[in-house]
Amino acid sequence: METEKVEVDLSSFHRLLHPKLVVLVTCINPLEGTANIITLAWTTPISHHPPLLLLGMAPKRYSHELIAGPKEFVVNIPTMDIVKEMLFCGRRTGRKHDKFKETGLTPMPAKMVRPPIIKECVAHLECKLHQQISMGDRTLFVGEVLVAYVNEGVFDDKFDLEKVKLIYHAGGDDFATLASEIVTPSLESQS
Ligand SMILES: Cc1cc2nc3c(=O)[nH]c(=O)nc-3n(C[C@H](O)[C@H](O)[C@H](O)COP(=O)(O)O)c2cc1C
Repeated sequence: METEKVEVDLSSFHRLLHPKLVVLVTCINPLEGTANIITLAWTTPISHHPPLLLLGMAPKRYSHELIAGPKEFVVNIPTMDIVKEMLFCGRRTGRKHDKFKETGLTPMPAKMVRPPIIKECVAHLECKLHQQISMGDRTLFVGEVLVAYVNEGVFDDKFDLEKVKLIYHAGGDDFATLASEIVTPSLESQS
């Protein structure tokens, strides 16, 4: 029997593109000398040369002004070890909460930008703002990656998924991680 195709409400179209990797972006308020953390799922690499990535952020986020102003940020890659802290950073605003203090996550100096990295994350991409584009109800922040680094022993041009349990957002408060089964298809027999 053929499977029926069921129409999805356009308010949920993006959920068909999930689960998506979750990141924690750090940014600073230079006037107050404070740092903030925002949880994002709408991110993607967009260029090798120069190395560029994209964040899709709603203008009302506190972090929006902390990136548009200082023009720098760090993309930190969390693991399932800090899934609860990740959700806190995605459900509370830095206008009212000191997210480092309240989650217990540890800020550490970055190498090339003012926002701190998050010690408990497995990898870090320090970025300066390359371009900011208003698109629909989001701002697209394009960041140029100045330097990227990762915990020793878990990455050899790709993550060792046995060791690193990355977080993927399914929707709402549901998160998943990848099983370690890796599929590497060969195109040899098709040519
Ligand atoms: C899993 C998850 C993914 C999210 N992804 C995004 C996103 O891609 N863009 C966005 O603007 N907000 C996203 N949010 C919402 C923000 O993280 C949330 O509004 C946060 O409280 C904003 O913090 P701030 O006001 O301190 O900047 C996400 C939240 C969660 C829990």
